[in-house]
Amino acid sequence: MVKKLTPKPDILRSEEITKNLKTRLIGKKVLFFKKITSTNLYAKQLVKDYIQEGTIVVADVQTHGLGRKNRFWHSPAGGLWFSVVLYPHIPTDKGMLITMASSVSVAQAFKEITGLNPEVKWPNDLLLNGKKVCGILTEIDADINKINYIIVGIGINVNNDIDEELKEIAISLKQEVGSKISRVKLLRSILQHLDSNYNKLIFGEFESIRDAWLSYSSIIGRKIQVEDEKNVTKGVVIDIDDGGYIILKTDSGMIRIISGDVKYL
Ligand code: BTN
Repeated sequence: MVKKLTPKPDILRSEEITKNLKTRLIGKKVLFFKKITSTNLYAKQLVKDYIQEGTIVVADVQTHGLGRKNRFWHSPAGGLWFSVVLYPHIPTDKGMLITMASSVSVAQAFKEITGLNPEVKWPNDLLLNGKKVCGILTEIDADINKINYIIVGIGINVNNDIDEELKEIAISLKQEVGSKISRVKLLRSILQHLDSNYNKLIFGEFESIRDAWLSYSSIIGRKIQVEDEKNVTKGVVIDIDDGGYIILKTDSGMIRIISGDVKYL
């Protein structure tokens, strides 16, 4: 008798995600929703009641996914859309490193689960073949010298179809690998890497996060343009400092850039 092999359905459920997960902090509590407005919005509600650190909010579908600069983030079924709640005791000017630790963790998980080697694009994108496969929205609430909370929202095109109008700039893991990827396996791997990278961060190993990030980047020495709300600045990248900022050599001298959209020239 021939045994018919039916592929295991790719179902994201809290128990599947947490079962035997060997993390210290990240993913100890997982809240799963079939449909939600935005996992970041929901996580922000949870911090009002001081939900435990490392809690994950994950959804199959987001109806109002948030991207950087208030852009709409397409979040159909098949993708991986989740947010992590953190209360890091680190200097406020090191908050940016949380985004870097997160993109490094996603890159490490991609490598582990798919064998693919993504490129990180400052500050928060992951690219495959030059197209965006993952975006990270880090929302920080801080006083002058204290971070109150950070919500790290991670969106990955895994098995979802890419919208027609985004096909030039976005890609899914399924497209790149040629078959479906288990979102549960991928998420568990990300949580494990994030747990370890976050641990390094809160113990002050800022350079090790920066160095790990640089190992997935080709930004040093590149001519770039950085656009923020007010300015477009052009120059050559000299370094990424241990706070995660770009050190740019421009015609009018060296400057340190904190945020903006980067374009390689
Ligand atoms: C970007 O603009 O590149 C950041 C996109 C971040 C999207 C993720 S999906 C999960 C989390 N919830 C949201 O509403 N946004 C983030």
